[in-house]
Amino acid sequence: MIQSFGRLLKAEWRLYLHNKMNKRGVVDPIAQTFHVVPNVFADSMLKELLAELGQLKSCWVRGDNEWRRGFAIGGHELKEFIKGEWLDYLNSSDFKSRVQEATGIPSLEYVSVKDTNRISLLLYKGVDGGDGIDWHVDGSIYLGERWAGIITLVEKTGEDSAKLELEQNGSVAPFPKKELTNSLVLFRGDHIRHRVRPMLDGEERIVISLLFSDWPRMTLNPFLRLYQSKVNKAFYNNPRL
Ligand SMILES: [Fe+2]
Repeated sequence: MIQSFGRLLKAEWRLYLHNKMNKRGVVDPIAQTFHVVPNVFADSMLKELLAELGQLKSCWVRGDNEWRRGFAIGGHELKEFIKGEWLDYLNSSDFKSRVQEATGIPSLEYVSVKDTNRISLLLYKGVDGGDGIDWHVDGSIYLGERWAGIITLVEKTGEDSAKLELEQNGSVAPFPKKELTNSLVLFRGDHIRHRVRPMLDGEERIVISLLFSDWPRMTLNPFLRLYQSKVNKAFYNNPRL
């Protein structure tokens, strides 16, 4: 009992320091690896998914704020509107095994269903100056390692490299666009600087965003929770945690 309380306290302190340092641009050099899982969905499932996206037009929430420019649909709203098997697949043990295998972390799990960032949709368009998200590292509200996942569904751009860029140890190796469609990129977004290059006229990018942790226990720190709640409001117009 006392031992587990001590573990919690230690983890809370570590998380507090981590968020403080990553706001100053200090990240862990040993957390700079990323993994790419190709062919996430079978062709028929991807087809079904893209067809279903077409019916979600009225669900997208527009965000134009200090964090990003673009549209999003949060996890809570997705569960309400999505009927397709692709969402079941993302919640299946088969998919979880692929994520665990790719990262080499057998204890990696989704964060709780209460967190709207567990599975959400993001859309960027090349209108009104171009959507995008500038270089940043994410905050974290989880006591364990935090792993972000991005599955690219649509990348209709005039460029050869993907709009998603990760900076690894100070340099950027662009992803070839062709390789990224229907692939999952797994990375520690709270340690690797990343961005979505501004969309140009007529371009469009749609991705599924996923969130995992090897200890998906949410912090009790009210300041970190409040910060995340503001981010959720900015992304999904829903501050719920
Ligand atoms: Fe991010």
